[in-house]
Amino acid sequence: MDKFVIQGGRKLGGRVTIGGAKNATLALMPAALLAHGTFRLRNTPVLRDVSTMASLLRTMGVKSEMKEHVLTLDTTGVNKQEAPYEHVKKMRASIYVLGPLLARYGRAKVSLPGGCAWGPRPVNLHIEGMKKLGASVELKRGYIHASAARLTGARIYFDVSSVGATGNVMMAAVLAKGTSLIENAAIEPEITQLAQFLQMMGAKIHGIGTNRLEIEGVDAMHPADVETIPDRIEAGTFLVAGAITRGTIILERVIPEHFSALLTKLEDAGCVVNVGSDTVTLSCPDGMKPVDVTATIYPGFPTDMQAQWIALMAIASGTSVVTDTIYLDRFKHVPELIRLGADIELKENAAFVKGVKLLTGATVMSTDLRASASLILAGLIAEGTTEVLRVYHIDRGYEAIEKKLQALGADIQRVSGEEF
Ligand code: UD1
Repeated sequence: MDKFVIQGGRKLGGRVTIGGAKNATLALMPAALLAHGTFRLRNTPVLRDVSTMASLLRTMGVKSEMKEHVLTLDTTGVNKQEAPYEHVKKMRASIYVLGPLLARYGRAKVSLPGGCAWGPRPVNLHIEGMKKLGASVELKRGYIHASAARLTGARIYFDVSSVGATGNVMMAAVLAKGTSLIENAAIEPEITQLAQFLQMMGAKIHGIGTNRLEIEGVDAMHPADVETIPDRIEAGTFLVAGAITRGTIILERVIPEHFSALLTKLEDAGCVVNVGSDTVTLSCPDGMKPVDVTATIYPGFPTDMQAQWIALMAIASGTSVVTDTIYLDRFKHVPELIRLGADIELKENAAFVKGVKLLTGATVMSTDLRASASLILAGLIAEGTTEVLRVYHIDRGYEAIEKKLQALGADIQRVSGEEF
């Protein structure tokens, strides 16, 4: 396992190109199961989660090849409709194969994901959605067993807006007999892209981009090529890297409206933001002002940026409150940030962050992807050396983060070794 060694205190500056969105890719790849043939996903990021999804699809007979960020998927040899525990436990997004397998092959056996590092993450909405579409679903020995000769259109209302359940149920409904209505659907950009991709494959979906999706089932779909949208969380993480080091960062190949909430919060904190059509320039010559954020569903502030925002607020000139309404326990980074000298108190799902003048380097580790990102950000400003262990979390969701940070002037090295 690798670790990062960071010498803090370097001001970052320069241009950084943002890659394709992890969470869009993880939905687009299983969507290929809905049709027979060859698909090309351009702007696919090179990430561990993408490899995990490719290897899961391979167990089902999907051939895949990645070349210069173009992922080619060939679904002509699909011969198995099962997602084993060994894949699902590595990555919850594996659950996305449930809807397409059920819709296309009439059956699916998918391991239940179980909890995750920051608490329970149920899949009840996915299962209830499949049942509504007429599937018979049984939970046996840790697996979801679902079957249906052909799914039938239905009205589905999600009590909670869920990215995964919306994507999964939408992928099931596109091949159902009749019309489905998904209400309180997620409107995250990655779900909008999935809906557009399904349309390119021949699905009939109305209301894309809204929380009311009407899907007229079709009898068959065909392969399509797509360009993955930029990763708004990678973009946001680099903006915070610029802000925390009081630098000037230019993001390239982004869709700024996908992270408007973050841009506004950065302005509130004292940064100057200039938005172009696919670029954002951020400069933060002065110190950070404290700014509260509440992580919520899109277009609100994303929960996937909550940990990075806490790192930024750790050096603000006052106290801010960072609340997470999506994952109430997602604060594993807080005790580690405290080890770097941050002053943070947790009360239920809110972090009260009292800005300090100086963070100091230490050895820290994290249990999840965004927590790791927040520790790297804190390390960029901490005095002395910070070691961030368990870097494999970062490799799940950031392509070559250390190289991109080095190019911006950061002193960060990846050190390989077994013992980390
Ligand atoms: C996706 C993202 C993840 C992000 C999250 C919230 C991917 C691969 N992952 O995760 O990075 O942090 O959206 O933006 O796209 N819920 C239920 N029952 C369910 C499903 C969800 O109660 O069956 C709840 C969850 O516990 C959570 C909320 O719904 O409180 C939102 O979760 P959801 O949008 O489903 O997250 P994921 O799709 O797992």
